[in-house]
Amino acid sequence: MAEHISVTQISNHIGQEVTIKGWIYNRTDKGKLVFLLVRDGSGFVQCVAFKGDLEPEVFDKVMRLPQESSVIITGAVREDKRAPGIPGGYEVGVKQIEIVQEAGLDYPMSLKDHGVDFALDNRHLWLRMQSQWAILRVRATVMAATREWLDLNGFVEMSTPILTPAAAEGTTTLFETEYFDEGKAYLAQTGQLYNEANIFSFGKVYCFGPTFRAEKSKTRRHLTEFWMLEPEIAFCDLDGLMEIEEQMLTHIVQRVLRDRMPELKSLGRDISKLENIKAPFPRISYDDAAKIIQEFHEKETDPEKKELLKFDWGIDFGAPHETIITQQFDKPVFVYGYPTAVKAFYMEPWPNRPEVCKSVDLLAPEGYGEICGGSERISDPDALLQRIRDQKLPEEAFKWYLDLRKYGSVPHSGFGMGTERVTSWICGNEHVREAIAFPRTIKRVYP
Ligand code: 4AD
Ligand code: MG
Repeated sequence: MAEHISVTQISNHIGQEVTIKGWIYNRTDKGKLVFLLVRDGSGFVQCVAFKGDLEPEVFDKVMRLPQESSVIITGAVREDKRAPGIPGGYEVGVKQIEIVQEAGLDYPMSLKDHGVDFALDNRHLWLRMQSQWAILRVRATVMAATREWLDLNGFVEMSTPILTPAAAEGTTTLFETEYFDEGKAYLAQTGQLYNEANIFSFGKVYCFGPTFRAEKSKTRRHLTEFWMLEPEIAFCDLDGLMEIEEQMLTHIVQRVLRDRMPELKSLGRDISKLENIKAPFPRISYDDAAKIIQEFHEKETDPEKKELLKFDWGIDFGAPHETIITQQFDKPVFVYGYPTAVKAFYMEPWPNRPEVCKSVDLLAPEGYGEICGGSERISDPDALLQRIRDQKLPEEAFKWYLDLRKYGSVPHSGFGMGTERVTSWICGNEHVREAIAFPRTIKRVYP
């Protein structure tokens, strides 16, 4: 019996007879030859059926085999530079084929282009397409590389709760639910506050899970459910935080380049842009970023574009502003020291300049914009209580959080990284919705 191999291992089996278990992705007939592009989850390989090698009834079936039929194919592996696939350059000469199921002829996700809404309605099938397969393989490697770097650097993974008693990132994006006799509970917008408790026992921690924002914005960067990685570090200031971010991001990108090159190439990604992503990353203040934007605003002659670039010190950056900033650099850029008024309540004020806080966003190049947001946290109990009161947050729900500043408070910092945004940037995607298997947006919870 031939050995069952996965397509990724095919280069180790040249000249050998192997078995591939998978699905028909595409089929082309050339008289006595039928070319089947078969995908098995690990890759795509061309299998060639020759009329003379198979029983007439079998060859006849193969000639009419619909896309997505499930098959078990046995045959010898040959090297052939012209053969398509991932990795390309190999083909299997079909000696035996077992049709596990002949797929229905009405498969909706044929290989032609589909409209976005149609593709999203059929997301459960769209996932099988090569582009989607490649993006989600990159995503899995992004997640694995993230954990790998943190684990190697002494971080402890914690699971923070998803059902929470209060808002942490603004009250306008909360999903709420009735919680028995306890009143309302909210889906977590972040695990950060719990990690701030965790560092006092573990020093360096991270959580990596789904987070929820009832985002009213329908932009290409926003999901209502996304996966956020959140490290939190005791005895760490803003500079220390930026070092951790750039080291971790460098590891993630370099690991994707090492392990997911065929996927990136199949997506048509410009690899040279990614090879350049190595620490250190440039750092600029919000004030300097504001100057850059104002210069571009002044120079702009198109009235429509000029309107979009309008900018006054104190506002948060919009997507067009972030685009301008990131276009000045060929690496991700840190922008630090945002106005306190546009950031969350827990951020440490800048010394002698309370209108600015010790926050930092990491903006990805090529116009991708914010991929990480973080800050040094307020460590003084009175200052923190004041911020909670100023923002009219429910003091009772933050009692435990204020305790953290009473018993051994230390300077500490952390950040959140959006998995879908990082994956989209690395893959060169238009929209974050393709970087998660089943996207949730304001207009979509199906399938
Ligand atoms: O900047 P954000 O809102 O920061 C926090 O939630 C902090 N509590 C994190 C921390 O310091 N521990 O979100 C962090 C990152 C963003 O930079 C972005 O990459 C991603 O999470 N993100 C989203 N991704 C997709 N859809 C959304 N609606 C997102 N909102 C934030
Ligand atoms: Mg942010």
